[in-house]
Amino acid sequence: MIQVRQLSKHYGATRAVDDISFEVSEHENLVLLGTSGCGKTTTLKMLNRLIEPTHGQVLIDGQDISQQKPELLRRNIGYVLQNNGLFPHYTVAENIATVPQLLNWDVGRITKRMHELLEKLHLPADLLKLYPQQLSGGQQQRVGLARALMADAPVLLMDEPFGALDTITRTKIQAEFKALDELQRKTIVMVTHDVQEAFELGNRIALMHQGRIVQIGTPAELLFNPASAFVKEFLQAQRLQLELKSVKLTDVWDNLPTPIVSGMQPVACNEQSVWWAMERFKEHAIQNIAVQHPQTHQVKTITFEQLMSAYYQYQNALQPHE
Ligand SMILES: Nc1ncnc2c1ncn2[C@@H]1O[C@H](COP(=O)(O)OP(=O)(O)OP(=O)(O)O)[C@@H](O)[C@H]1O
Ligand SMILES: [Mg+2]
Repeated sequence: MIQVRQLSKHYGATRAVDDISFEVSEHENLVLLGTSGCGKTTTLKMLNRLIEPTHGQVLIDGQDISQQKPELLRRNIGYVLQNNGLFPHYTVAENIATVPQLLNWDVGRITKRMHELLEKLHLPADLLKLYPQQLSGGQQQRVGLARALMADAPVLLMDEPFGALDTITRTKIQAEFKALDELQRKTIVMVTHDVQEAFELGNRIALMHQGRIVQIGTPAELLFNPASAFVKEFLQAQRLQLELKSVKLTDVWDNLPTPIVSGMQPVACNEQSVWWAMERFKEHAIQNIAVQHPQTHQVKTITFEQLMSAYYQYQNALQPHE
């Protein structure tokens, strides 16, 4: 869906983006991860021609974007700006309606779509007549997202969409974001400097450093097969938690003890991670949980120690020499 070929942006001697190439498949969520100043925003803005590259090429849906009119191109690309980028002198309703108005939608259609999105994003309708500074940070970010989703463009670019939020609000909005049906059918490039967020939301992650991509791959690939010492170090501080989140219960299934019958109601473990199971023990202060394999429907009742032991066995099998 998106092909980036040897893309660079130089400002004098500064190489903001330095010869990067990557592809994003349809319906994939690619996260650009990296510390401040590594070139994430510059990369994102070259995808919708808010910035013109010094070298290189971007194709969207097979079309070279440099051959398209920027305003037409942007109709097919939703964009959530860093720090939400709402117009301060426009009401929430006016902010959300900017793109559909450019597209000459009639008032009825705009209103209908606006209310549909407010509901999906858990925003009360009486916010519509307020100005951005009258909203909380979380509400502002939801409005920014609503604005980007209004025209239902197939591609969505998001620059630090959850950047300004406290950890609790952030986790909550991330979870809602993951569950949102509108987003599942989009091709998304999302920028963040937050490792946990990248792992939570990205199908693949491009780790950037000084304008270059140092590694691109699935969260598990970056963790278990780091391309360099830099990648390894970047993830080091949060390594254990990331690993527990990226290993699924089905991955460690064979290392869990053989089933013991218990009366407990099992939970189906489709995509759930080892971390998720640990949280259940913690939240409910219980000794056992019963989990069910999604394909075989086998049920296993396990303790926390059995879970940990299965996880370490899995780990050891994966990387015997460290
Ligand atoms: N218009 C410009 N003129 C000169 N240098 C620029 C310009 N825009 C960006 N840069 C430089 O390019 C580099 C990359 O900037 P960019 O905004 O892409 O970083 P970023 O990864 O988005 O950082 P942050 O996480 O802080 O948002 C920085 O060193 C920045 O100072
Ligand atoms: Mg930025």
